[in-house]
Amino acid sequence: MTGHRKLTPGKLIIASHNQGKVREIRALLAPFGIEPVSAAELDLPEPEETGTTFAENALLKARASAEGASCVALSDDSGLCVSALNGAPGVYTADWAEAASYEGGPGRDWYMAMGKVEGKLAELGHETDRSAYFICTLALAWPDGHSETFEGRVQGNLIWPPRGTLGFGYDPVFQPLGFDQTFAELDPQQKHDMSHRADAFKKLVDGCLT
Ligand code: IMP
Repeated sequence: MTGHRKLTPGKLIIASHNQGKVREIRALLAPFGIEPVSAAELDLPEPEETGTTFAENALLKARASAEGASCVALSDDSGLCVSALNGAPGVYTADWAEAASYEGGPGRDWYMAMGKVEGKLAELGHETDRSAYFICTLALAWPDGHSETFEGRVQGNLIWPPRGTLGFGYDPVFQPLGFDQTFAELDPQQKHDMSHRADAFKKLVDGCLT
């Protein structure tokens, strides 16, 4: 692939405060001589996600960190798109988990969010199409304003009740096509080999790391 700016070995900010994403991005970057530092470790603020597309939100986050730390930054905006719900929760995947009070304080309750998706599917009846995909847009932003974005997807079906304790977010209800286990039951390495994040990351590697 040509036309993409190359990433050079050295420091890279992971523009995310989501520990699950940071863990997966660190694992994906491990072979490339890059030194990832998370936005949370640098106390960089989390910008409000005001975009209406995954790419807009990914760019907002990467640009905020690149400008805040004067260093190249990588962000991830991702979500779950359910066919029978016309692609919802989509860009609002994290918002569906917004809980007024969770474990004593405001935060995100993923079990409530998975239940909300399941409740809407149940309203449509048990013959309803349960197919869904995860989407991930990775954005790289440099302090001089240059940016690159890459999109990845993984197709699957939603199961109920949730199964498994690995991964994060909606992993316990997502069964990737061709597997009997959910993302939360698969070995993390297996998820890294086929996830939406891995798919986007392969494109980033082709464009900016090789
Ligand atoms: P955002 O990108 O910060 O807007 O949040 C996207 C949300 O989508 C995450 O907080 C997760 O709940 C969900 N999500 C994204 N990727 C994954 C994944 O790999 N597994 C499970 N849930 C995910």
